Amino acid sequence: MSGEARKTAEGLTHLSGFGNEHASEAVPGALPEGRNSPQRAPLGLYAEQLSGTAFTEPRAHNRRSWLYRIRPSAAHPAFTRTENGSIRTAPFTESVPDPNRLRWNPLPEPAPGTDFLAGLWTLGGNGDATQRTGVAVHLYHATSSMERVFSDADGELLIVPERGGLLLRTEFGLLHVEPGHIALIPRGVRFRVELLDASARGYVCENYGAPFRLPDLGPIGANGLANPRDFLAPVAAYEDTEGPVEVVNKFCGTLWTATYDHSPLDVVAWHGNHVPYSYDLRRFNVLGTISYDHPDPSIFTVLTSPSDTPGLAGVDFVVFAPRWLVGEDTFRPPYFHRNVMSEYMGLIEGAYDAKTAGEGGFVPGGGSLHNMMSAHGPDRETFDRASAAELRPQKVDDGLAFMFETRWPVTLTPAAARAEHLQQGYDDVWSGLERHFRPLH
Ligand SMILES: [Fe+2]
Repeated sequence: MSGEARKTAEGLTHLSGFGNEHASEAVPGALPEGRNSPQRAPLGLYAEQLSGTAFTEPRAHNRRSWLYRIRPSAAHPAFTRTENGSIRTAPFTESVPDPNRLRWNPLPEPAPGTDFLAGLWTLGGNGDATQRTGVAVHLYHATSSMERVFSDADGELLIVPERGGLLLRTEFGLLHVEPGHIALIPRGVRFRVELLDASARGYVCENYGAPFRLPDLGPIGANGLANPRDFLAPVAAYEDTEGPVEVVNKFCGTLWTATYDHSPLDVVAWHGNHVPYSYDLRRFNVLGTISYDHPDPSIFTVLTSPSDTPGLAGVDFVVFAPRWLVGEDTFRPPYFHRNVMSEYMGLIEGAYDAKTAGEGGFVPGGGSLHNMMSAHGPDRETFDRASAAELRPQKVDDGLAFMFETRWPVTLTPAAARAEHLQQGYDDVWSGLERHFRPLH
């Protein structure tokens, strides 16, 4: 789309720490300053609080923002039910949970004029949106910018573009993300997705649980993995438009629509910590072994949504970014394993180092699901190659893969279980793993 759109997406502020207070105003004086009451807005604006956590959650985890807007959000007509398209919501009860290893090709081409919302297709998930637990895994394939505005009461949306740039026009301002970046839209924040290229494709983790935060670093220390200063929040920008605007609201699994007489993206200034943000995955500070073997993939965690059990995430967002492999006397690819957590993996570009690339393999825009306790690991070709490799320092820089790793099994939607783009014969990648056992006697 227009260069103008890309230009207007510039001017982002650093989100210097999760839980910290941020502020931005599109018009000087729109933010209450000094002794001015934050609940009495300047310039004839309305003050409105948006709560992302309960009022009483601990200060370190509390999320809320104050919005200074042309009209309060309360000024809207009744919502009525509208079509859900291919969007589904937990609890997922239409299919039996499947223990098989599964892999999909990219979504098929959508019809012309498909916007981001119409292009959302739910693969599956877990938990229960009404209980604020679990996740849904969605993919999107869009060919048109949204005219309407969307908000999701059920959870926050972690958007992982794989093809095509996106301009997210949010209540808080603009976010510009390209493949290799992620964007996060907090629960309840209204936004519109505009395409910066002819089409856009990618993944979405809808997180019904606690908001994503940076993982603790423990003995790693004060630096490393995703650094807070690399997260970018928008600068305030608003639409002062009168006239009909469709607003779609996802609430407990169903879509509802209302036609406002003005744009709800009319926030002139804001402060708080319940804010959208973007992050360039190539800024991830990858840590790994400098002796032998490699740590568990949790070392690649970008963001985590804790559950009520310490150390047990509702969902982790994990990235497999370019990195050096230097381990000696070891097997370098991800090991064979069975995991109590369930793993959905996607590929943003290139190839993943435990799977063979190419047609019918693990391809950008595709995905794999290794559900709770399903056995997986490198395919035969990767195992053979890595077992015979001379272990010189090696740069792995030809791919960008990610994982949504969740504490509960992922149950598929019927659409995903019966999809034409579900690969047949994925199990074959582990066929031909010959026995090499040779007892000494
Ligand atoms: Fe795994």
